[in-house]
Amino acid sequence: MKIALFSSQNYEKPFFRQLSAHYADFNLTFFDEKLSAQTAEMATGFDVVCVFVNDSVDAPTLAVLAKIGVKCVALRCAGFNNVDLAAAKQHGITVVRVPAYSPEAVAEHCVALILTLSRKTHKAYNRVREDNFDLNGLLGFNLHRKTVGIIGCGKIGQALVNILNGFGANVLVYDPNIGEGNYTQVSLDILLSQSDIISLHCPLTEHTHHLINDDAFAKMKPGVMLINTSRGALLDSSACIRALKSRKLGYLGLDVYEQESELFFKNRSEEIIQDDTFSRLVSFPNVLITGHQGFFTQEALHEIARVTLANISAWESKQPLLNQVK
Ligand code: NAI
Repeated sequence: MKIALFSSQNYEKPFFRQLSAHYADFNLTFFDEKLSAQTAEMATGFDVVCVFVNDSVDAPTLAVLAKIGVKCVALRCAGFNNVDLAAAKQHGITVVRVPAYSPEAVAEHCVALILTLSRKTHKAYNRVREDNFDLNGLLGFNLHRKTVGIIGCGKIGQALVNILNGFGANVLVYDPNIGEGNYTQVSLDILLSQSDIISLHCPLTEHTHHLINDDAFAKMKPGVMLINTSRGALLDSSACIRALKSRKLGYLGLDVYEQESELFFKNRSEEIIQDDTFSRLVSFPNVLITGHQGFFTQEALHEIARVTLANISAWESKQPLLNQVK
């Protein structure tokens, strides 16, 4: 079984190498390149391509993969918005994913963004290193008794609810597909208008694209904190900039960005960034951006490799595919 891993990074290779030893016939090749219609021919001779969040598995790419005989696309991530499922079906290519590797990893990173923005630990760290012990400009706020609105309460949203309840926050949830739980369920409009902090945990679909736009900002409290660790295009970045400039948006924490596939997962410190929207966002003192690292814990990397290889093994041996995306 020849498996081509695209967009592979040094930090994930040890996990894949170690766990693939359990599968005698697995032969892994790591490519730095992103999968796209232009690079897909690199998978010639492989049975499976394994991809991550910013690989492009669109119709043209799938057409090339089908032509060279690739029969399975194994996503080593949960989201599958980068896959044209209709085209995959048309070409008879099976798509599998890792639905949950560590919801807690993403939820904990979300809390790290909230606390860093509020308590300004990133600024304090730099000040103290320069013997500047002035507290002016570092004033934060308690999470205790704040209203936190969670949009999308699946695995990650629920893990975040559990943490926030420990802080003594008042947790509101909007998710059309869930029942009662340790939160208060409200409509989207009530969540937007009552929350001090809003965190996005729904998938990116045609219904959620630019869910947070000018209209949504108009409904929010002045000075609200917005956190997005889900998918970049849930937010209209231009609307965010307008809301930051008018101070409607008091704090913005992002782990994902709409155009991140052109930026993230590479050292670009010697380049001139051409994305003016991203550069403007970075320039605000109340914006904190991390480069899609919510998932990035040892526990999650181990689980990603374990489930990805188990998915491929199940596909190879024609066992029921628990993690197939249809
Ligand atoms: P999940 O599938 O367990 O939960 C998603 C929830 O969103 C479901 O309960 C669903 O009913 C709800 N939902 C769907 N449409 C909605 C809408 N229009 N409004 C409100 N709720 C809606 O997914 P999980 O595992 O919690 O992941 C959530 C998202 O987090 C993924 O789609 C992915 O994009 C992102 N993610 C980000 C990572 C990172 O490293 N930053 C890592 C893993 C996932």
